[in-house]
Formats: sequence, structure tokens, C-alpha cells
Amino acid sequence: LREHEKSTKVKNIATIELGRYEIDTWYFSPFPPEYNGCLKLYFCEFCLNFMKRKEQHQRHMRKCDLKHPPGNEIYRSGTLSMFEVDGKKNKVYGQNLCCLAKLFLDHKTLFYDVDLFLFYILCECDDRGCHMVGYFSKEKHSKESYNLACILTLPPYQRKGYGKFLIAFSAYELSKKEGKVGTPERPLSDLGLLSYRGYWTRVLVKILKQHKSDISIRELSDLTGIMAVDILTTLHSLELIRYRKGEHSISTDPKVLDRHLEATGRGGLEVDVSELVWTPFE
Ligand code: ACO
Ligand code: ZN
Repeated sequence: LREHEKSTKVKNIATIELGRYEIDTWYFSPFPPEYNGCLKLYFCEFCLNFMKRKEQHQRHMRKCDLKHPPGNEIYRSGTLSMFEVDGKKNKVYGQNLCCLAKLFLDHKTLFYDVDLFLFYILCECDDRGCHMVGYFSKEKHSKESYNLACILTLPPYQRKGYGKFLIAFSAYELSKKEGKVGTPERPLSDLGLLSYRGYWTRVLVKILKQHKSDISIRELSDLTGIMAVDILTTLHSLELIRYRKGEHSISTDPKVLDRHLEATGRGGLEVDVSELVWTPFE
């Protein structure tokens, strides 16, 4: 997994403190030059400002008045909340988030203009505030139909289903509301691909199970908001595409579908669509 590390730039920051976690970083991230040679950085978990020294950080935490990401809360269900942050209105926050995220993302150039992006921050909330567990970013206007630019679950929160939640949220709840078909920006990391494959498999296999008769890639795409090529590669990898007399069809054998459903593992947290308060960016 960490093989790419050798080929990318030497890691600069080794650990960060964020909320109640100390987290070891994975990759190089281009922090401003005055942070060169810092092994550890202290982040404010709410405004994402970062500091070199513990005392500075403690002072900041006493006076910072944010208790959640800046921007609008667009989803709440139980203790989970999603905030939408406009990179143009919250430039510094967007830049800080990109620097933080790059520590865990390998082959991504994150330093496009944050103005052009929306950031969706997923938080676990308690009486001390809303604590970021992960996020995804999205171009306001994507020519390539990308519905997600970058996705990250912070390491202490990984493998709990948040990644799949973020994918479902970005990818399809938002795209479906916009009435668009979408796909994540490429390249995908190994973990990104695993998460997307798992998500696509679950969504597609569930629909195939309900459709006893023939269904086309096109219909699947309309129903799910998943782009046709992603549907094709997923169904291919599951060996669900059959060729007969020069025509292809999609297998809906319930036994085979059930086997795939079992193999994709836990479904993760469901997006409760009724808790989504959101209108597409104009
Ligand atoms: N080893 C093996 N499989 C894994 C691992 C792992 N360490 N982590 C996730 N997976 C797979 C599993 O199949 C898992 O499903 P399962 O638990 O049902 O078996 C599936 O991915 C999704 O698991 P989640 O718990 O929903 O995802 P998580 O919250 O861990 O987030 C994510 C996944 C966002 C990719 C996370 O690993 C991460 O932030 N990685 C670092 C950043 C990154 O690589 N982002 C994607 C870049 S590509 C892009 O941004 C377009
Ligand atoms: Zn702060």
C-alpha cells in the first residue's frame, strides 16, 4: 500500500495533532516553507489552522470560536452532520484542508484554485462540537462530469463505513438530485478504487436482484447516477456480463448475485435522504 511513498517526495511532517488524535502522516504535503523541518504540526480541529508549537495551539484553542466547519449544515442524522463549505467564501479553510488532506493522498495535485470547489465535511457531533471524520471535494462546474475530486477518511476513523457514506453522499445523492450522471476524478488510489468498487457492486447488484428481466447499462445508469463505463467495468469484474450470439446481456441469476452481495462486505452507513437539505450550486 505505501509503496508509492518511495516514488513521491520525501515526507516532511511526520505526525499531526487533530482534536483528540495524534495521527502519523502518509505522504509529503506542500506546507508553506516556514514549516519545513517541522516533524509535528498542531491543527485546530475546527478552523484547521495549523501551528508549530503546542503552546500556540493551546492559546488558539482558547480563543477560536468555531465549533464546527464554516459553512452550512446540509445533513444531520443522529450524531452525524455534513457541512458544505464554499472554497470561495472560506479560502483559508479550503487551503488548510487541502494541506491536511495531502498528507494522506498520494498522486493528487490538490492545489488548484480552492475558489472553484465545494468541500463537504462529515462530522461526528457531541457537546464539545462537530469533529471532522472525513470529507470530499467537488468542482462547482465539472466539464468531465466529475462528482467528486478528492475523498478522505482520517485514519482514526477509517474502515468504519464513512468512506462508503461519503461516496454515496457525493456521488449519488447529490448527482441524483442534480439529475446528473457522475464519476470520481482519476486517478483513484488503491483504497479509493476498493471503496468505489465496493460501493458500485452493492448498488448495482441490489438493483439487478429486483429486476428479474433484462435491464440495460443505460437503464442502470439512469437509475443509479453511475456512469456507464463504471457500470461496465464493475459488471465485467464480477463476471456478470454474458455474450451470446454476438450480443451481450447482464446476468440476473439470484444465486450469483447473492454471492456477490455477501462478498462486498458491510454496507456501511446509509445516507438518510430525508435528512438532506441541499440545492445544487448555481
Ligand atoms: N485494506 C483493505 N481494504 C480496505 C481498507 C484497507 N486498509 N480500507 C478500506 N478498504 C476497502 C474495503 O473493501 C472497505 O469495505 P469493507 O469494510 O466493507 O470491506 C471499503 O474499502 C470501504 O470502507 P469504508 O470503511 O467505507 O472506507 P473508509 O472510511 O476507510 O475510507 C478511503 C476509504 C476514503 C478511500 C480511505 O481509505 C482514505 O481516506 N484513504 C486515503 C486517501 C485516499 O486514498 N483517498 C482516495 C483517493 S482517490 C480520489 O480522491 C478520487
Ligand atoms: Zn481554530
